[in-house]
Amino acid sequence: MRVPILKGKNIVLRPLRLSDAPAFCRWFKNSEVTRFLKRYEDPPTLQEERKYIQEQNRKRDNAQWIIMTTDGAMIGTVGLTIYPVHRRAVYGIFIGDPRYWGQGLGTEAGRLAVAFAFRRLRLHRIELRVYAYNIRGMKSYKKIGFRTEGRLRDHLYRDGTYHDEIVMGILRSEFRNL
Ligand SMILES: CC(C)(COP(=O)(O)OP(=O)(O)OC[C@H]1O[C@@H](n2cnc3c(N)ncnc32)[C@H](O)[C@@H]1OP(=O)(O)O)[C@@H](O)C(=O)NCCC(=O)NCCS
Repeated sequence: MRVPILKGKNIVLRPLRLSDAPAFCRWFKNSEVTRFLKRYEDPPTLQEERKYIQEQNRKRDNAQWIIMTTDGAMIGTVGLTIYPVHRRAVYGIFIGDPRYWGQGLGTEAGRLAVAFAFRRLRLHRIELRVYAYNIRGMKSYKKIGFRTEGRLRDHLYRDGTYHDEIVMGILRSEFRNL
């Protein structure tokens, strides 16, 4: 879908552009970043990434933004995959440049996207999955208002060992009460 620009105190969310493809390729080459992501091996080619951006922008039930700092640095992406029948969305985020981690920017981006989902799209529920070793991610999601709903034991096999995956969710009524 065509997403609007959303402005926060320290960041701005703007729609994805084809010219963002090289940044994605750079981010996906960094295993420090991809160890937290589903897209893990084989970084995409520029052509694949351009195709991915085109597809994302074309999908009606997809809302995805680029996260920019207010001084113009492009640092990552946040998005929602929407299931309109259930008024539910799956949330995903990453800041591709680790220098920007741990400064509250991911939480701010998440709050903007979640507020958009509940207030503008009138959704009922947002959910996500996070690897149990991603403590930073889980802390950020809790600050947004997500609650832990479940643990998929040994769900992921990576680097020679099994890891749990955590399911988190937030309901519209919970967001209203925050
Ligand atoms: C997950 C992510 C979006 C969070 O955004 P962020 O801007 O880094 O998070 P915030 O700074 O808003 O909050 C992080 C919290 O974790 C804490 N934290 C930071 N570094 C930490 C670390 N190494 N270990 C544990 N906690 C840490 C921070 O103190 C903060 O909690 P607090 O406010 O209670 O002190 C971002 O770190 C990221 O993109 N990481 C890599 C990719 C990724 O994990 N994507 C999500 C996949 S599910």
